[in-house]
Amino acid sequence: MPGIVIVGVQWGDEGKGKATDLLGERTEWVVKFNGGNNAGHTVVIGDEKYALHLLPSGILSPGVTPVIGNGVVVDLAVLFDELEALEARGVDTSKLKISSSAHVITHAHRTLDKVQERFLGKRQIGTTGRGIGPTYADKISRVGIRIQDLFDESILRQKVEGALEQKNHLLLKVFNRRDITVDEIVDDLLSYAERVRPMVCDTGLELNDALDRGEVVVFEGGQATMLDIDHGTYPFVTSSTATAAGAASGSGVGPNRLDRIVGIVKAYTTRVGAGPFPTELFDEDGEWLAAQGHEFGTTTGRARRVGWYDAPITRYATRINGITDLVLTKLDVLTGLDEIPVCVAYDVNGDRFDEVPVNQSDFHHAKPILENFPGWSEDITGARTFDELPQNAQDYVLALEKISGTRISVIGVGPGRDEVIVRHDLID
Ligand code: GDP
Ligand code: IMO
Ligand code: MG
Repeated sequence: MPGIVIVGVQWGDEGKGKATDLLGERTEWVVKFNGGNNAGHTVVIGDEKYALHLLPSGILSPGVTPVIGNGVVVDLAVLFDELEALEARGVDTSKLKISSSAHVITHAHRTLDKVQERFLGKRQIGTTGRGIGPTYADKISRVGIRIQDLFDESILRQKVEGALEQKNHLLLKVFNRRDITVDEIVDDLLSYAERVRPMVCDTGLELNDALDRGEVVVFEGGQATMLDIDHGTYPFVTSSTATAAGAASGSGVGPNRLDRIVGIVKAYTTRVGAGPFPTELFDEDGEWLAAQGHEFGTTTGRARRVGWYDAPITRYATRINGITDLVLTKLDVLTGLDEIPVCVAYDVNGDRFDEVPVNQSDFHHAKPILENFPGWSEDITGARTFDELPQNAQDYVLALEKISGTRISVIGVGPGRDEVIVRHDLID
């Protein structure tokens, strides 16, 4: 089973970084296929804690060749900052490969991200402000700058001129900001060209060759199903394909090379930024969950919104991604609750919906229909087999598996690398 995709089921921060890291020792390649430094993956190895944004989490595993695929948007300043910070901690980053077709985030994109959000006022998306949306917008509008453009100054200059033309009108006349000069963007990008050059290659070719040799490739998704540009809670989404199909297009392999699709799902739900969230809690249960789960964003430090587990979302994600296995994370966070409510369906203005409503305003008005499951008080962080979990925790997992419609292959009982229960091997 060489091609394994990792995707988020909910609104991000499910523990994808940890899941990728878990597979690290038995993986030859990890490719990030979407998003950019809007992601924040925390990986805990022994006493060491790493926060990765742009780099694939596989960079922490010595045997892995980490890859930034063509579907990613790259902020070069962030790239080199992250690489330097890892090197300073003794992590070997020399194997990193970057697609020559990945697009670059410039100062103009970061500026536009921020002013557009401000302009939206109450309709704000709550983006991470990293320039992600405007960079993908340029890609789709065919005025983007790609990594390969850095190696020919006259082409780079022409492309930057083309890209800035309309943006400067917007910045000056609509947003009342100063214009951005071609020179400042070109000089900035060129300052990275020679450093990035040795990393750049045809990553699609390398990955296909690796798969042909039978090597294991993990496709690490950023963001999540409900933030996907097509299948998420549009317009409160990110601007990339965060679902499994993006693994193929964002890395340059055929969909038939994706053998296993692993959905990462929290034992409850969180969301950062604006948009609908049916099981959201506004009471002391919510405060308790946020505190127990340390629910503060890795990227922006914003408090995450929290709510109960939403089974229709997992069923939806399973359908959209073709999920074969679930990794249920943060089960330990629920320890201490007398009863654990789970959303099994929605009530929309008196009508029952068993699946995620396709109509946006229905989803905005969806109220969760909750079923309660008995909780447990025993510390579960030391459990390494399913049988070692208290009976009520086992029953909770089995109930989620049943209502979610997919097998739960791995259970997270703590942030550490070894704090997991493996029920079914994800690589075998
Ligand atoms: P990602 O963006 O999907 O990689 O997730 P984040 O790293 O943003 O957020 C997940 C957080 O939960 C991180 O701080 C992880 O260290 C932590 N985490 C992951 N799995 C578990 C688990 O099973 N239990 C606990 N308590 N924490 C976990
Ligand atoms: P990981 O990979 C949680 C959210 C932002 C905002 C929306 C659009 O760590 O799970 P963007 O900057 O992408 O244009 O913002 O998407 N968002 C995330 N939320 N986890 C993430 O990544 C996210 N990446 C983007 O908060 O609501
Ligand atoms: Mg995260």
